[in-house]
Amino acid sequence: MQQLTVTIRSTKGGVGKATFAANPGGMLADPGQRGPLIDADIQPTLSSYYPIEETAEQGLTQLITTGEIADCISKTAIGMMIL
Ligand SMILES: Nc1ncnc2c1ncn2[C@@H]1O[C@H](COP(=O)(O)OP(=O)(O)OP(=O)(O)O)[C@@H](O)[C@H]1O
Ligand SMILES: [Mg+2]
Repeated sequence: MQQLTVTIRSTKGGVGKATFAANPGGMLADPGQRGPLIDADIQPTLSSYYPIEETAEQGLTQLITTGEIADCISKTAIGMMIL
């Protein structure tokens, strides 16, 4: 299976980075495509675009500092994973 990684970044604030990530993420998750959205912004805006069904106790910092991914991935109501 082919994998695609897309990074959305800009030093300019408020230009639609989170919105641009959330929309194709939702379009892929809706028909059941797997693949996490990784929000590296300290303002976790991406988590506000879809209802969160399961909220992870930890986040990206935990993964980077310990290498442990358990308890780092939140799940939205449409099955999308957010880290
Ligand atoms: N195409 C668009 N047209 C109009 N408004 C938009 C569009 N895309 C995003 N916005 C709005 O612009 C604002 C900023 O969007 P967003 O939070 O996605 O930007 P950001 O680059 O992630 O911001 P930040 O730098 O604060 O992290 C939000 O209110 C969002 O609803
Ligand atoms: Mg943002």
